[in-house]
Amino acid sequence: EKGGHDYFMLKEIEEQPEALENTLRGHFVNGGIVLDEQRMTEQDLRDIDKVFVVACGTAYHSGLLAKYAIEHWCRIPVEVELASEFRYRDPVLGRDTLVVAISQSGETADTLEAVRHARTQRARVLAICNTNGAQIPRESDAVLYTHAGPEIGVAATKTFLAQITANYLVGLALAQARGTKYSDEVAREFEELAAMPQAVRQTLSTVEQVRTLGRELADSKAVLFLGRHVGYPVALEGALKLKELAYMHAEGFAAGELKHGPIALIEDRLPVVVVMPSAKGRALLHSKMLSNIREIQARGARTVVIAEEGDEAVRPFADELIEIPAVATLLQPLVSTVPLQVLAAEIARARGYDVDKPRNLAKSVTVE
Ligand code: F6R
Repeated sequence: EKGGHDYFMLKEIEEQPEALENTLRGHFVNGGIVLDEQRMTEQDLRDIDKVFVVACGTAYHSGLLAKYAIEHWCRIPVEVELASEFRYRDPVLGRDTLVVAISQSGETADTLEAVRHARTQRARVLAICNTNGAQIPRESDAVLYTHAGPEIGVAATKTFLAQITANYLVGLALAQARGTKYSDEVAREFEELAAMPQAVRQTLSTVEQVRTLGRELADSKAVLFLGRHVGYPVALEGALKLKELAYMHAEGFAAGELKHGPIALIEDRLPVVVVMPSAKGRALLHSKMLSNIREIQARGARTVVIAEEGDEAVRPFADELIEIPAVATLLQPLVSTVPLQVLAAEIARARGYDVDKPRNLAKSVTVE
């Protein structure tokens, strides 16, 4: 049942290409993006002047990525907020606010209550959900289902990649409705998304390398994760996976913040996982990240670098180099996350823990 794997999570990590294919299927029709359920008018969509993304945990990390895409494509301000914080601070909401609620289960109490609060303020709600007919989509004005299939491992993996994909579809749907992108541009972006299952499949060739690395790092006291731009939410997700599965202290940072404090944590042999921005697409960010790696390496960190194939500049600074395919900037998280999932699972396994059922955690959190 685990498809010959030691644990479900590894099977689900390997199912990610199909999860993306299934999530994309049927959403590009007659040259345009379509949602699954749409109870808003085109005019409602055009009038939206503010987006809030609310979610918890891994879904929240996917939401952080939605901000990069929606602001870039639609020129609408986007705020991303933990669902458990959202309704307690009296957010400014109205008829022209779109609240995007992201939830794999569709039953997470914090996210559901955030949706209900948004609706009392007359905001529109769009749900991104992996469970047909769950409570959150039932209470929403529009729905886009991720089709990752049931996820057995308590830690979210394939649903995370599917959520990122769905977020981008929502971004394109909004751009199309608002006219901030021409239809040929929407078509081009969709094509790039449609090429991602293959890129993720290619990334799976790093699994054995990362499993070996995981065993080597299993005795570490802590692991830090650094990213910039879209690599930052990936760093947060890598740290969350490690905490929940390996019960290890792990933290994700925006690399630019290092010098504002966290660099004090670096000590000899501390593993630091760095998600490198694309060398071609983001040359400035890439060179900034190189200086960050230099700084931490000079302080004795053991650097594990996730970088695009052909990124020669980073080689001298990588104690371990994990190569991922070169893809468009916004899409890099779909490939850079994969080795971090495997790393967390394998460290947990090497420490003797049940990867599929981490202690104290439930798959669906229905209490606030
Ligand atoms: C982490 C994880 C949790 C969930 C969070 C939200 O691996 O699984 O952080 O992402 O509890 O759950 P959903 O998406 O069901 O609302």
